[in-house]
Amino acid sequence: MEMKNRGDKVTTAVGHSNIALVKYWGKRDNDLNLPNNSSISITLDDEVKTTTSVVFSDMLRGDKFFINGNLQKEDTSNEKNMFMRKVLNDMRRMAGTESKALIVSENSFPESSGMASSASGAATLVFALSNALGLGYDNRQLSIISRKISGSACRSVYGGIVKWQRGSRKDGSDSYAMQIAKPSDWPDLVDVIAIVDPSKKKVSSSRGHALTVATSPLYKVRAGFAEKNVEEIELAVDRKDFGALATTIMRDSNNMHATMLDTWPPIMYLNDISRDIIYAVHEMNEQNGKVLAAYTFDAGPNAHIITMEKNRHSVLEKLGEISGIKRIVTARIGEGPRIVSDNLIDIERLAPLLR
Ligand code: PMV
Repeated sequence: MEMKNRGDKVTTAVGHSNIALVKYWGKRDNDLNLPNNSSISITLDDEVKTTTSVVFSDMLRGDKFFINGNLQKEDTSNEKNMFMRKVLNDMRRMAGTESKALIVSENSFPESSGMASSASGAATLVFALSNALGLGYDNRQLSIISRKISGSACRSVYGGIVKWQRGSRKDGSDSYAMQIAKPSDWPDLVDVIAIVDPSKKKVSSSRGHALTVATSPLYKVRAGFAEKNVEEIELAVDRKDFGALATTIMRDSNNMHATMLDTWPPIMYLNDISRDIIYAVHEMNEQNGKVLAAYTFDAGPNAHIITMEKNRHSVLEKLGEISGIKRIVTARIGEGPRIVSDNLIDIERLAPLLR
């Protein structure tokens, strides 16, 4: 089968998941994914990566997406799937081509389990598409486009410690991410990820954002608290003050999960093992007389324990006391997306599927 257009070239990118230190939860615009508050995250490394290969060809009759080996059907009930198709159409139009795309994407970690697979997936896809289509978008443009697929994705466009500024414009042109520290500025930061449940979450984050905004009385104070936390984290990063960083991380995670519990009907992403981990981290910090580690949870029960390399063993030891943890992955602070030469598309093997 002959693959045409843009030199039959397969473009492959690798990008990373991020873990929010100050959480984004709740949108002021559902179509553009505009947040009610600014947020901050750490971009992680190849331990939690997405690899995405893209090829455009006139031989394809329609766009085809494979995620972790599964062909994605057009699904109007899946917001992120629909936003992804819209972004593909917009970028194709910008590049002045009508060729259809074959996109194959694989994550190194479980999908939809509060491990920001959509953030990693969307940022890597947009980066791969911009390169494959020769659009040459800069990071700010990539951040704004990624945001439209999955809000938290706009932060995975950068490496290091990243801030997504809320912005105030209605069209979202000032709601994008920026790097506030390079990976080399704080290279010994570690994220010990305790996977307690790799299955798909019960309430999608898209639905969760909307339900909390619509029903939680506590949510009314969330935005102000989060903006204050953003300032505190920026200061802690500037001073390399781990104790202040860690305390703010834990308080912000607890505050977001409190608004989730306050949602009607309630959303509970944490489970009993997550709670055991929370108590264990507090116990460990108290026993040491200083804050050595911080827990944080996205929209799922899996714990992210942020610590420094020198305290990683103490964290692992403490986690060893808890039963029910299925797997531990240790990720470090990583870079933004990059182009790689190994690709996931074997055109010959896929040819029958494409006819
Ligand atoms: O980007 P979304 O729509 O999947 O929302 C992600 C929200 C959290 O992961 C819970 C927090 C965050 O800022 O990443």
